[in-house]
Amino acid sequence: MKKILGLLIGSSLLGAAFLPMSAFAADKGMVLALSCASCHGTNGASPGSIPKIQGRTADYIEKAMLQFKAGERPATVMNRIAKGYTDEEIKLLSAYLGKFAPSK
Ligand code: HEC
Repeated sequence: MKKILGLLIGSSLLGAAFLPMSAFAADKGMVLALSCASCHGTNGASPGSIPKIQGRTADYIEKAMLQFKAGERPATVMNRIAKGYTDEEIKLLSAYLGKFAPSK
């Protein structure tokens, strides 16, 4: 009985853990941009020597990402990272990160 109860509780917890994922899907750009935070910091405000992307417009970020992807912009790591995203995904994550630019 205890085992069954544990299984029931366990699976309902698992269900709860998966629920927020569908909420994330609402903003795919945000989810895609999460992987940038490890280097560029939360919302692009990178500490240290990695260039900040916070304050850059969506257009700037999208153009830079496409240039990295095409090997047209000097890079150590960004050329490889940019290749992991489709042009459509770059547009989505740039639109998200561009929200932290000061409004004109
Ligand atoms: C492993 C660390 C790392 C990750 C992860 C990373 N970046 Fe970068 N990013 C850098 C570095 C370092 C540079 C400087 C160029 C270079 O050396 O490749 C840079 C440069 C940039 C620039 C150009 C900034 C400028 O003004 O010149 C943009 C835009 C950018 N990254 C966007 C992103 C986005 C968007 C993501 C997530 C999809 C991302 N980066 C993920 C390390 C990272």
